[in-house]
Amino acid sequence: MSKEILVPADAISQKEAIQGWNEAAEEFASRFEKHEEFFHKYMINPTIIDLLGAVEGKAVLDMACGEGHFSRKLAEMVKGNIQITGVDASETLIEIAKRRNKDFANCITFQVGDASRMDQIPSHAYDIVICNMALMFIKQYEDALREVARVLKPRGIFVFSLLHPCFLTPGSDWIMDDAHSSGKGKRIGWKTDNYHLRLASRDVMFVCDTHETYYFCRTLEDYFRALRKQGLLVTDLREPLPPKAMMERKPEFQAEVKRSLFLIMKGVLLEDGFSL
Ligand SMILES: C[S@@+](CC[C@H](N)C(=O)[O-])C[C@H]1O[C@@H](n2cnc3c(N)ncnc32)[C@H](O)[C@@H]1O
Repeated sequence: MSKEILVPADAISQKEAIQGWNEAAEEFASRFEKHEEFFHKYMINPTIIDLLGAVEGKAVLDMACGEGHFSRKLAEMVKGNIQITGVDASETLIEIAKRRNKDFANCITFQVGDASRMDQIPSHAYDIVICNMALMFIKQYEDALREVARVLKPRGIFVFSLLHPCFLTPGSDWIMDDAHSSGKGKRIGWKTDNYHLRLASRDVMFVCDTHETYYFCRTLEDYFRALRKQGLLVTDLREPLPPKAMMERKPEFQAEVKRSLFLIMKGVLLEDGFSL
């Protein structure tokens, strides 16, 4: 994350953040064109699927769905016996999603929409809401969580993945041994920084080589408090590592035990009137 530009989160508007995604859309979508992007394939998506449990016959909202790879994966898993709505604020990504997922038109629909105000989505209509690697890119995340609670049926499930808010902080980076300057350094630690400052970091992140988007850094407490306010009770939480065999085979993965890249959480919407 050496190239990152840091600004106070309040200085960036939701509109600017979405604009960044529209500009990055083609490059981001290319990561999923031929096969699943690496981190999604081996770490994030299997964990989300495990947390979701049975999805057959369910109504699912894929909030901030990108080019729709996760919707596609769920539809393939249950041979189309599912109803999925994919919503994303980037018009370009939704165009790509519609093109790329034509074969699933009977069970997936895609629409442009801002997660913080999904007026086009009916209330209490979904068994499951997924938000895969997107909440930290949504400026008005508290409004998006209010929308999650509105569109879920009581006892509906919300599963979301994040860049780990405690480790992927602004200014975080590997600590290298002395050979670093020669370019052959060994990763001997991971340093975090600026955790409580609630900065927005403009960077290519893990998703693009050239286009930068805004990543809004928040504390774990921020997320937990916002979930609780909406009656979303956290019932499970995972911090996946790369698969064991991969860590044994590939030395570059061995240092992953020093940090956690992703945080994946499951919440259940409590019955109306049940406050936390
Ligand atoms: C890292 S991508 C993740 C996309 C997809 N869920 C995936 O796993 O590949 C972040 C997504 O959040 C979307 N996004 C950002 N702000 C949004 C907002 N306010 N409402 C809806 N989508 C938003 C972006 O357009 C982008 O598709």
